[in-house]
Amino acid sequence: MLKRLSPLFALVALTATAQEAPALKQFMPSGVYLGAAVNQRVSDGADAADRAIVLKHFNSVTPENLLKWEAVHPKADSYNFEPADRYVEMGTAAGMFVVGHTLVWHQQTPRWVFQNEAGKPVDRETLLTRMHEHIKAVAGRYRGRIGGWDVVNEAFEDDGTLRQTGWSRCIGPDFIEKAFEFAHEADPNAQLYYNDFNLWKPAKRKAVEKLVASLKAKGIRIDAVGEQAHYNIAGPTLDEIEAVIMGLSAQGVKVALTELDMDVLPTSPDMWGADLSKQRALKTETDIYTNGLPDKEQKRLGEHYAGLFRLIKKHQAVFSRVTFWGVTDRNSWLNDFPIRGRVNYPLLWGRDGKPKPAFFAVMEALKQK
Ligand code: G3I
Repeated sequence: MLKRLSPLFALVALTATAQEAPALKQFMPSGVYLGAAVNQRVSDGADAADRAIVLKHFNSVTPENLLKWEAVHPKADSYNFEPADRYVEMGTAAGMFVVGHTLVWHQQTPRWVFQNEAGKPVDRETLLTRMHEHIKAVAGRYRGRIGGWDVVNEAFEDDGTLRQTGWSRCIGPDFIEKAFEFAHEADPNAQLYYNDFNLWKPAKRKAVEKLVASLKAKGIRIDAVGEQAHYNIAGPTLDEIEAVIMGLSAQGVKVALTELDMDVLPTSPDMWGADLSKQRALKTETDIYTNGLPDKEQKRLGEHYAGLFRLIKKHQAVFSRVTFWGVTDRNSWLNDFPIRGRVNYPLLWGRDGKPKPAFFAVMEALKQK
């Protein structure tokens, strides 16, 4: 009997926690979605606590991993649609704006995509055919249910040059426009996005502005550019972020912050290196909040987020969406990047599933006239 009742008690307790704070989505400027990236435990329903937060506070979802090529199309002749089906069902059942992430990227794409049976690089036509078939199968399956797609992810380096990847090396720079054409063909009503990080770096932003201008000149659909917005509390500045909003919207597309989080731990360029002893030393040196984020830092994080949301309000006419990359600090990718196993605090909900001071700071910023 007790065993049968306990899930009910758990549900009541969960609902009580989720009801403590008002739904954040209601404070967003009209026409700007508030989104969260969800992992498979959330979309499968295994993580009921995070799922309850998402359903209450957000009106858009993005899949953190399960629609990436390696997850949905692991082998040439087999697709794995079940987790993605559950994700789309979760979003559509709740009336959310469901995002697809991502059709063409150089990471989390299996090696077979770029190789023939002998393990040698395929030719341009073969790779274009594979890209076409993949997009047709994946975007086509969710036609009318996924509202917008990150069509191409991270095609440029920070200096504005085209990133050398399996896609660009084999097909050439026009792999981007081909991907957008194939996506439009697969779902003519879906919004199509270009998505990248560090667009606040001027050279990279200019490269993306040029891309948008060129797609538009050719009559190829692009609706918005996503600035991923993996920020650090140390930067970029609001002025640098405002330059992204102004520069991109001037090209006639909407702007979205698509993977927002705020790393609060110190970083150093050496963290990206392969020297493991250096990595271990850096982990010890920079994992500075293992016993919780001090009040002063909670406040500082809240002020940073508040400033950002005031900026979003100011430019609401050109904004389509703000999506956080995760729900609670517990499940953020930043606990494992750029160094594995640190305790980070980048989001609006803490490890205990409760809204942090930063949540209320954002809410207040959105409420201000
Ligand atoms: O699936 C395996 C699992 O079987 C294994 O037990 C586990 C052990 O570590 O690893 C699992 O794979 C991990 C995967 O996430 C799913 O959790 C990978 O190691 C890990 O590298 C992978 O990281 C993802 C990363 O993209 C990969 O590049 C992060 O969760 C995801 O948040 C991150 O998201 C990207 C966006 O798509 C694009 N922009 C940057 C952003 C952050 O890197």
